[in-house]
Amino acid sequence: MKYLKTTILIVLCACQSTQVSIPKEPEIGPLGEQAMISTAHPLATQVGVEVLKNGGNAFDAALAVKFALAVVFPRAGNIGGGGFALYRMNDGTIGSLDFREKAPKAGGRDMYLDDEGNVIDGLSTKGHKAAGVPGSVDGILKLHDKFGSKALAELIQPAINLAYYGFTITENQAMEFNEKREDFIEINGADFFLVKDEGWKNGDTIKFVELAGTLTQIRDRGRDGFYAGIVADQIVKEMQRGGGLITEEDLNAYSARWRDPVTSNYRGHKVISMPPPSSGGIAVLQLLQGAEQYNISEMGHNTAQTIHLLTELERRVYADRATYLGDPDYYDVPVDMLLDPTYNKERFSSISLKKKTDSQDIKEGEVDVIESVETTHFSIVDPDGNAVSLTTTLNSFFGCKVYVRGAGFFLNNEMDDFSSKPGVANQFGLVGGEANAIVPEKRMLSSMTPTIVEKDGKLKMVVGTPGGATIITSVFQAIMNVIDHGMSMQDAVNATRTHSQWLPDRILVEERAFDPAAIKKLEKMGHLIERREAMGRMDCILVREDGKLEGGADYSRGDNYAEGF
Ligand code: GLY
Repeated sequence: MKYLKTTILIVLCACQSTQVSIPKEPEIGPLGEQAMISTAHPLATQVGVEVLKNGGNAFDAALAVKFALAVVFPRAGNIGGGGFALYRMNDGTIGSLDFREKAPKAGGRDMYLDDEGNVIDGLSTKGHKAAGVPGSVDGILKLHDKFGSKALAELIQPAINLAYYGFTITENQAMEFNEKREDFIEINGADFFLVKDEGWKNGDTIKFVELAGTLTQIRDRGRDGFYAGIVADQIVKEMQRGGGLITEEDLNAYSARWRDPVTSNYRGHKVISMPPPSSGGIAVLQLLQGAEQYNISEMGHNTAQTIHLLTELERRVYADRATYLGDPDYYDVPVDMLLDPTYNKERFSSISLKKKTDSQDIKEGEVDVIESVETTHFSIVDPDGNAVSLTTTLNSFFGCKVYVRGAGFFLNNEMDDFSSKPGVANQFGLVGGEANAIVPEKRMLSSMTPTIVEKDGKLKMVVGTPGGATIITSVFQAIMNVIDHGMSMQDAVNATRTHSQWLPDRILVEERAFDPAAIKKLEKMGHLIERREAMGRMDCILVREDGKLEGGADYSRGDNYAEGF
């Protein structure tokens, strides 16, 4: 906690006074000789660190952290959502688990369209019908069953205690609860316990007693504590109350899937990432294949030329994403083609370093705005060198805002990650087509990009972030920040980020400390620039040359906190 407070002060001072995006003095994140954990909340990090100190491995800690985040970080940490886990064992074995939500059996291609075939505004983002069948509980239990060493009951208990006895909320959290007040009232009624007339403030204590009950069910009954029995009944009743589609049969049928990660090389490193239904892994590997053709280090960090190049790569990769990516169980995703260096060389051959390409010239489409950038990620390396990179989501802030009565948790609004209608953007401004159309029991495409980097057969980095469509570009930039720009993990996380995604045809830049001369040059090249407060909240780990583990937690953008020993 001490680290957190001091470093926040340093960053606040730095942001006010300068327009340079890389701190002059390298900032090194917390170091560990044996292990490191970085998560979105100090309490979750500490729960995980205790597990490791008591002899648990990375998978034990992942379970404890995942459930702790469901309590202390309810806007994105969850049991009512889904996610992806990527792992690398200390012997180099890699794998991934897909616990992405699924469309309910009663769902279908036109479920968000009116009689004239137009998308009904808000139906896939707010309220009961926006929820996909949750995968988080099945996923984290499966991961732990296969690789964990300690008992579920011991690992989930800290989360139960936090929920039952309460914890103090941060300023960010108070703000989030207050901001969502109207949505909470609309969906859950004026007497909903997170609605407070006088507003929430930093340091208030909050308890999730019903959630403690649900977690106790999971502790005592495992998977059946959520997908069957009392909790399943409560979910189904909640669905019936608000016209949602999830049934007992949907819950029963949910099963997380083991999948082979996608890999590619980048300047002598092996980059390992999440395969479909994540679009993130393929996209980040395509971007790195494109970047490798240029001397990024010489071009400089966040210079106009580098941002121009990244944008040109990104508009092509996101256009591919919209066309080719979807749930591989339902759509034949051309993974080999998209990761083929020859394909990517040809794909990027139309890039000019002097002139912007119009996105409309790459492929047609129509897109509005990007709104929420939610989700959460954590990275863990244990004393044996096993690594877990796990990203999990409710999609928007507090998902569809439906709080399952009696069971005490929010449900996701992940159905919005499907393409409700070809060419019409979702809340992240992402478009899609047939590959990501809604089909009963299909998984919606995701941008979540849990990633691990190896060098010379050894673990080098564990990377990931929330941020909707910006997840992919944040992970891309963090990897280049370390490999091309020689940054520490903390600097790579702190560094100002940009984002573009084919459509809309513009570059988002974080406002904090961005060089106005670079912006001017980009505008001269024809780019449209839009300023953003913050993109992503990264939680990363670097294995340094001296063998120490450096945590890189995005404490200047959120409450993120890394700790090692
Ligand atoms: N819900 C954000 C994503 O999966 O991309």
